[in-house]
Amino acid sequence: MTHNPAPDRSIAFIGGGNMAYALASGILRADADRSVVVSDPVPEQLARFASSPVRTTLDNTDAVAGASIVVLAVKPQVMEGVARELAEAIDPQQLVVSIAAGVTVSALRAWLGSSAIVRCMPNTPALVGKGVTGLYADSGVSEAQRAEAEQLLRAVGDAVWFEQEGELDAVTALSGSGPAYFFAVIEALIEGGVELGLEREIAHRLVTGTAIGAATMVGPQDDPGELRVRVTSPGGTTERALSVLASGGVAHTLRQAVHGAWQRSRELSGVEVDGNEGSAPPEAADSAATLSRHTGEERRT
Ligand SMILES: NC(=O)c1ccc[n+]([C@@H]2O[C@H](COP(=O)([O-])OP(=O)(O)OC[C@H]3O[C@@H](n4cnc5c(N)ncnc54)[C@H](OP(=O)(O)O)[C@@H]3O)[C@@H](O)[C@H]2O)c1
Repeated sequence: MTHNPAPDRSIAFIGGGNMAYALASGILRADADRSVVVSDPVPEQLARFASSPVRTTLDNTDAVAGASIVVLAVKPQVMEGVARELAEAIDPQQLVVSIAAGVTVSALRAWLGSSAIVRCMPNTPALVGKGVTGLYADSGVSEAQRAEAEQLLRAVGDAVWFEQEGELDAVTALSGSGPAYFFAVIEALIEGGVELGLEREIAHRLVTGTAIGAATMVGPQDDPGELRVRVTSPGGTTERALSVLASGGVAHTLRQAVHGAWQRSRELSGVEVDGNEGSAPPEAADSAATLSRHTGEERRT
């Protein structure tokens, strides 16, 4: 098969783990002619790319040679070593995209000496093409490079730009860590179904189908609270369930969880966290009254 990818649009992934696999697969699904190379020191990690057109190498500097975009997809704790190793090999014209949690643009610039760096926070649904990514770039990145980075992440889902790098901590707390929150809810609901006597497989099917259906109903213009009110008949089963959720403080706890993740993200980014600053969740809106209201007029956001 003749394969002539445009050399100026090639992408190098440093680190061949889960996110690199998701992104590389999505990019090739969207543009089969794209040239993609992945480097990882562990041959077993590269084996998963064997059936794809991806070129693999054990040598990071070999991977970046000639690439227009270099995606840093290693764990944050090894990023400094990897970036310093690549400092000589990376050309200032090459766009560097880091997906590492908590590693700031200024740290990357200090280690790499590179000027064009986009930092982003993807999430694991990228593995199934349904990711959401937050992106940030400072003035060292041109409009064309921003567009390239956005196109890269859009291959595996939605992508949203942020003006302030610190906002990526909130992105981490919501969408970066978010899949786990939903997994926890799905897990608990399945257990509830099993306790009611359903076979686990059936409970799994009912809960996951409902989760996908409910999430699909919430379009960009839709108010989830409004949708909730609409499906809650007075004196009905949903109302009873929602009042149990409210008395357990579930909405308040979820908001606290988001604040906890945000605080941890800031700690990982090296932001001073004094234990109080920004860590207290806002006033809980999770009263029984809020969750059990039936009419739009009564509901508060
Ligand atoms: N997974 C997520 O949900 C998610 C979400 C947002 C952001 N991220 C970020 O994405 C990055 C990658 O996460 P991941 O889940 O894909 O992790 P992962 O599966 O552990 O992938 C990282 C890969 O980098 C390899 N590696 C280690 N040292 C290396 C080196 N010196 N040179 C080249 N490759 C090296 C690792 O090999 P070994 O396994 O042998 O160490 C591994 O294959 C992380 O920085 C993470 O913060 C992940």
